[in-house]
Amino acid sequence: MSRVLEVNNLIQYFELSVDLLDKFSIKEGKISINEKRVHAVNDVSFHIDAGEVYSLVGESGCGKSSTARTIVKLIEPKGGSVRFLGDDITHLSARRMLPYRKEMQMIFQDPYASLNPRQRIIDIITEPILFHKIESTKKAAIDRAKSILERVGISSDQADRYPHQFSGGQRQRIGIARALAVDPQLIIADEPVSALDVSIQAQILNLLMDLKDEYGFSYLFIAHDLSVVRHISDRMGIMYLGMIVEEGPKENVFDAPAHPYTQLLFSAVPKIEKEGEFAPIALEGEIPSPIHLPPGCLFASRCDKAMEICKNVRPEYVTLSPGHRVRCHLYTSTGQETSIDE
Ligand SMILES: Nc1ncnc2c1ncn2[C@@H]1O[C@H](COP(=O)(O)OP(=O)(O)OP(=O)(O)O)[C@@H](O)[C@H]1O
Ligand SMILES: [Mg+2]
Repeated sequence: MSRVLEVNNLIQYFELSVDLLDKFSIKEGKISINEKRVHAVNDVSFHIDAGEVYSLVGESGCGKSSTARTIVKLIEPKGGSVRFLGDDITHLSARRMLPYRKEMQMIFQDPYASLNPRQRIIDIITEPILFHKIESTKKAAIDRAKSILERVGISSDQADRYPHQFSGGQRQRIGIARALAVDPQLIIADEPVSALDVSIQAQILNLLMDLKDEYGFSYLFIAHDLSVVRHISDRMGIMYLGMIVEEGPKENVFDAPAHPYTQLLFSAVPKIEKEGEFAPIALEGEIPSPIHLPPGCLFASRCDKAMEICKNVRPEYVTLSPGHRVRCHLYTSTGQETSIDE
């Protein structure tokens, strides 16, 4: 199976503006710079093969969107590497990224904010088709745009309308059509249904899954909602404070969650489903600040199984079964084989 995306040790952080007068200070007789960094993505590695759906799951603020935005180079990676379709794209210039941009499209949570309100739908879809030279004439591009709109459930009679003339669900369909228009190999869907009414969510999810089978692309799917992830994923990664703490085939992770954080996350699900609530999962305990990350396991402060070593040493991956791996000292200390590459 060919590898579409391979992310290794990805790092992303954001500098917070420090008051100019506080920018430098004297420490032990030497001038030092006062940096305030939000460590959004801390050593993230995973891959996606052709036709796969890989889901990233985790609480709000754990770095899912930052990971996605770094992969597509909306923000430059600060460390690590991104290989896409076999090529290292980590440091490609905007110009050299162009052919890869066509192959990786994003669908966003808020379809309204991501559609230009002053552009007609037909122009929103036609523009990338012409830009990436999928069709060579305007007429052919318009025909292609209309047939894709029809495919996602928007009548081509409505193609001359503007985004505000559509409902939330229809706007997300238009966002999906825009991504599909250039025939990408990877679609990164960042919470594509969480802003929609619950009744619409299933329709859009079904559409997303049907399209994958028809067009044969892969998904990086970002979600809060574990019931959604359970339906659509092949493999999944559980993120906590910018790190994937556990990943594996969906069945392995759901049937035998190994990391105490995954276990907590899953134990929160029945309550959420019962209350019919799709809000971000909120767990108890103190989350360390992403500005000052602790030296050991990032989850130690909330973990009821934490040992002394957890406070001081960052755990490496331990492979539990093929493809199922966890970053937790409960497994390293039992002497199982530690492996980063399987
Ligand atoms: N442009 C930015 N400047 C400073 N901090 C940022 C920026 N973007 C994200 N962050 C911070 O990085 C961390 C990760 O944010 P991110 O948006 O990636 O999380 P998320 O998992 O997508 O959350 P959500 O589920 O709420 O969408 C958070 O602490 C966030 O406040
Ligand atoms: Mg996000």
